[in-house]
Amino acid sequence: MSKLWSDIVHKLTPYVPGEQPKLDDLVKLNTNENPYGPSPRVLEALKLEAADSLRLYPDPNSDALKAVIAEVHHLKANQVFVGNGSDEVLAHTFQALLKHDKPLLFPDITYSFYPVYCGLYDIEYKAIALADDFTINIDDYDQLNGGIIFPNPNAPTGIPLALMQIETLLQKNTQSVVVIDEAYVDFGTESAVNLIHRYPNLLVTHTFSKARSLAGLRVGYALGSADLIEALMRVKDSFNSYPIDRFASAGAIAAMQDATYFEQTCSKVIETRERLVKELTVLGFDVLPSGANFIFAKHQLKGGAELTALLREKSIIVRHFKSPIRIAAYLRITIGTDAQSKKLISALKELL
Ligand SMILES: Cc1ncc(COP(=O)(O)O)c(C=O)c1O
Repeated sequence: MSKLWSDIVHKLTPYVPGEQPKLDDLVKLNTNENPYGPSPRVLEALKLEAADSLRLYPDPNSDALKAVIAEVHHLKANQVFVGNGSDEVLAHTFQALLKHDKPLLFPDITYSFYPVYCGLYDIEYKAIALADDFTINIDDYDQLNGGIIFPNPNAPTGIPLALMQIETLLQKNTQSVVVIDEAYVDFGTESAVNLIHRYPNLLVTHTFSKARSLAGLRVGYALGSADLIEALMRVKDSFNSYPIDRFASAGAIAAMQDATYFEQTCSKVIETRERLVKELTVLGFDVLPSGANFIFAKHQLKGGAELTALLREKSIIVRHFKSPIRIAAYLRITIGTDAQSKKLISALKELL
């Protein structure tokens, strides 16, 4: 604490990301990264970008990247906003579209960056309790609000919400922005992107960090009506003119253009997930249904904190949340390769 700080800084409770330990031979299943590297076409594009042109600023509007994203999603370029990871896209969204005189609504168990942005931008919010089975009940969002946001599939539960439910929510909620954070959508959850044509208050966010294997490059984007995108551009152009550097742009374009690699790696992750769920169930875990590249599981006898610590001793890192108490028994396990699953299962067999 310092007298030199701005007032708001004293009140911030920053987000704490999953750790990135610098240990060899680690089975790292704690931050939902993709176990497969990016497409070889991405690596080629990055090499080409290491050139004299780095002395020049990148395109402030990222037009080439936006054009490719728009094409893939059958939208116009003015319906696309890009940023330095979807975290930055979300931050601008909170400031540009979700700060009103009524509370922003999001689930009580969800991506823990949402309340952090509310703190940063001084946004009033109301956390809506998930149902007993950890699903989102859209009827609970049928109340006055300054916006609604949740991930689909939700994090850290991994549970997907059916598209019909999202459409019902949009039909009932036309006066504020509804943000669907689709960071994990490509691992078996239905996307809401096609609803953008009919609902001008819908914003959908995506990331290159998960299904496109580019967490290290920091690129994310939002899709929505030109009106919503203009609000995001106004904030971005008042904050950082060049959030997408030349490497990020070249790599993300190449990733978006390699649909085959993307589909193959997503399928592999989904197949590994289904096998892992079966094996964990045999070992006495209850696993929530997942449409993501991670699962949320609790053992019938051993606690979440204890299991996390025991796995760590065996160089396997998973994510555990101490609070709220409802999820303290759970482990969030990122889907790795089949070999990593094997190591996890054999470690658990020894521990249980
Ligand atoms: C639900 C959700 N949204 C957004 C993000 C941010 O991803 P990134 O900033 O890497 O695009 C994450 C990261 O884990 C997430 O879990």
